[in-house]
Amino acid sequence: MSLILPLLLAAYLIGSIPFAVVVSRAMGLSDPRSFGSGNPGATNVLRSGNKTAALLTLLGDAAKGGLVVWAARAFAPELKLDGTALALIAVAVFLGHVFSVFLRGKGGKGVATAAGVLLGINPLLGGAVLLVWLATALISRYSSAAAVTAAIAAPALTRWITGSEYWTVGVMAMVTVLIWRHKDNIRRLLKGEESKIGSKKVAAP
Ligand code: G3P
Repeated sequence: MSLILPLLLAAYLIGSIPFAVVVSRAMGLSDPRSFGSGNPGATNVLRSGNKTAALLTLLGDAAKGGLVVWAARAFAPELKLDGTALALIAVAVFLGHVFSVFLRGKGGKGVATAAGVLLGINPLLGGAVLLVWLATALISRYSSAAAVTAAIAAPALTRWITGSEYWTVGVMAMVTVLIWRHKDNIRRLLKGEESKIGSKKVAAP
């Protein structure tokens, strides 16, 4: 019997763990869906003013993506997973974060989880995309602009660094959803209304 369906479900469920909400609740902070952009992600948790909570959210959301992809790759021979199955598992953990079953389908924008997935595919690839994010963030001070720029660069970097078509197609699918999830940020960026990294907490729109 093929293991792919249970593995996709497991990846989706792990991806669904909303670290922004879990960490904020555990640390007695406001739910990140109630302030700032309303997004359950590290950038918005940072708007609470608690850097530790933001860092833990970032690490948790990245780790779930990275660990799932790393484990799938490590056990691919035993589980008889081909390239297509691995790419589907990577997309499934990402989609779990974006359409979290624990948040009734309303998850985050997927940046940290996508970074974890890319690191799990290939640390050099993850590092290269993170460098694009960092350079854009340092220049613009906008987390969303950095995420969209890094997402645009990711498929070409995936093709170049891994040489693999299935990872490239998987990453293209992932960044398409990620950019779509940033449509309100893009609108705010164009209007000059986007808040910069570390800006203060205001009620969610
Ligand atoms: O990690 C998500 C980031 O790109 C944008 O977050 O809260 O400003 O919408 P936010």
